[in-house]
Amino acid sequence: MTERYYLTTPIYYVNARPHLGHAYSTIVCDAIARRKRALRVETWFLTGTDEHGQKIERSAKKAGSTPEEFAAKISAEFSESWKRLGLAPDDFIRTTEERHHRGVQKLFKELKDRGYIYKGHYTGQYCVSDEAYVEGEPGAICPDCGRLTETVKEENYFFKLSAFEKPLLDLYERRPDFIAPESTRREVLSFVRGGLKDLSVSRTSFTWGIPVPGDEKHVIYVWLDALANYITALGYGSDDAASLEKFKNFWPANVHLIGKEISRFHCVYWPAFLMAAGIALPGQVRANGWLLFDHTKMSKSRGNVVRAESVAEVLGVDALRYFLLREIPFGQDGSFTFDALVQRYNGDLANGYGNLVSRVVNMMHKFFAGVVPEAGKPTEAEETLRAKATAVIPEFNRCFDNFDFSGALKVLWSLVADVDGYLTATAPWKKPEGRSDAEQAALQARVLATAAEAIRIITALVYPVLPASADIVWRQLGQGEIAGAAKDNFLSGIIWGGLKPGTKFGEPAPLFPRAEKDAVTRMEQLEAENNKSAVEAVGGPIEMDEVKTAPAEVQKKVAEAAPAAEVKSAAPVPTAPAVPASATATASAPAATTPAAVPAGQPAAEEKTFITIDDFSKVELRVAQIIVAERIPKADKLLRLEVDLGDEKRQILAGIAQYYEPEKLIGRKIIIVANLAPRTMRGLVSHGMLLAASLEGGVPVLAGFHEEVPLGARLK
Ligand code: MSP
Repeated sequence: MTERYYLTTPIYYVNARPHLGHAYSTIVCDAIARRKRALRVETWFLTGTDEHGQKIERSAKKAGSTPEEFAAKISAEFSESWKRLGLAPDDFIRTTEERHHRGVQKLFKELKDRGYIYKGHYTGQYCVSDEAYVEGEPGAICPDCGRLTETVKEENYFFKLSAFEKPLLDLYERRPDFIAPESTRREVLSFVRGGLKDLSVSRTSFTWGIPVPGDEKHVIYVWLDALANYITALGYGSDDAASLEKFKNFWPANVHLIGKEISRFHCVYWPAFLMAAGIALPGQVRANGWLLFDHTKMSKSRGNVVRAESVAEVLGVDALRYFLLREIPFGQDGSFTFDALVQRYNGDLANGYGNLVSRVVNMMHKFFAGVVPEAGKPTEAEETLRAKATAVIPEFNRCFDNFDFSGALKVLWSLVADVDGYLTATAPWKKPEGRSDAEQAALQARVLATAAEAIRIITALVYPVLPASADIVWRQLGQGEIAGAAKDNFLSGIIWGGLKPGTKFGEPAPLFPRAEKDAVTRMEQLEAENNKSAVEAVGGPIEMDEVKTAPAEVQKKVAEAAPAAEVKSAAPVPTAPAVPASATATASAPAATTPAAVPAGQPAAEEKTFITIDDFSKVELRVAQIIVAERIPKADKLLRLEVDLGDEKRQILAGIAQYYEPEKLIGRKIIIVANLAPRTMRGLVSHGMLLAASLEGGVPVLAGFHEEVPLGARLK
């Protein structure tokens, strides 16, 4: 029987342009799909866009567009981005497509006909950003994203989720690997053990969705709509025999790869819907961790996104794929920084694999006119290398197939290092005195044939991760086009000895040119340019969210609107700039800058301005401790803090709500500007301002101390 493998990414909301966080999930699936195909497994890799719901309807309205146009535009950005990045899904589903519409209505009807859907009334809280029902009173904050929920009072259809509490717990017990990793499994288990209530599966207060069949004033709940993509894309709901064949062949999915924040929808709702409809369950729901940038999840609303294209343009797509898979232990959160990326690129790709290939291919051309010689009798060094490569193959396979991509690449790169060491030890380019020409030729033949064979194995294994580069190497090794070889099952039977004597090598070609110092700056510049055009293209007012992603120019504008004392780059002592919310304050802080004389004809912008020590001493910086920290309803960026200065307590409002959990701030010692004129925001008075470093994208990091300091102490 043909082995088949069906894997899916989450489908991406069209309220945000594609960024590296989205690319991460898609790249991981692309690598898995390529490996499966190379193992001759019939593979189906699905991705797409999630286009309905209140959130998208509102985003479209804000952009002055219809939901249809808005969704089409952003959806196209996703599919084009995947093309530019060389990602090759077998299908890209849009939830606005007819095939999906049909399938979702069929599923809804099926659930209703089987008695799992009934009509009722919902009164409760709803988080529009997560499109999720939230427990709590009016004014409740969404536990997942921290935003204020809205009160919904609607006639709704309900799904009998409560009936699936036991069947779901049985499922998790019977199939412990249904949810991975273990941390996600535990979270889901405790959620379900806490009791399941019936779930509202329709909405009536807006129209952007798929109508409930037979009761068109209801639209189907967007998560029921979205989850169904995994089956509608295979033809579920279709009358067409060919489409249904695909469903028959590929369902149930082997793996739904998801971000960990959407595990409840995939591990609770989705299997419950499927059980209720009598449809087989997927093999596994596997959660990836978050890609962090500047310490927080990369996301549009936090304004800290990086586009995959900027990295691809400077270092190539393969470098990005390698970095994401090697650097981040899959399943855990991982930080993305341009510096770490360049370091990995230079260390592992340019100086590692790339340099190894180039040395061996060049020597093969130089000493053997590019034709692989007979290796001759192996010595202990060759036997050791062969044993190592032979051990690496199953270890790599085991790690990769267990979603431990980082472990797989680590073990493979230990082979790269060993081949490098072998070349250095045998030094085939050197001819010591006393060695005959015949001995020299025999050594060169043995070493180069052995090293080239090791490279062949490394390249075959790494192909799913570095498809474009592996193709270049494959050709240099005289093996032709790698995609063709992949079709011929080059991976499952891979063993030492595949590189035959007499094979004609291809011409040497550059692989991973060393990244120079300016690589980071170039990527940052590309981001800034893109953000600028994105802000212009989106139109409409620039919100704080967008300002944080916005280019330096936009941020500068915001800073310029703030009082002079808050733009502290010229101040000699406190180097930490104010946090973003303070930058919008209108407090009458002292105008501390004293511009130096500007010689005629010189642009003022290039001049440094200085303040005197007297100017600085006007700013009263003091140590304070946070004793209360809480969110402010309807203000998703502000936190209300009460701070203790030793001899007094005060209230301060700070624009750090998107970066700090209030509970985690309690007890922290911070620095405040204590003599800033009071300012009213959201009806509350702020008596001072916090100091924080402002990182890329405006992300704040609060200033503090390593030593014990008494409350109220003055900073001078
Ligand atoms: N539309 C829903 C999913 C419906 S699936 C039936 C959704 N969309 S989303 O666009 O907000 O996020 C989709 C996925 O993008 C996340 O689950 C995750 O896989 C990926 N990521 C988005 N940002 C990410 C990071 N910063 N890091 C890692 N993955 C991230 O939720």
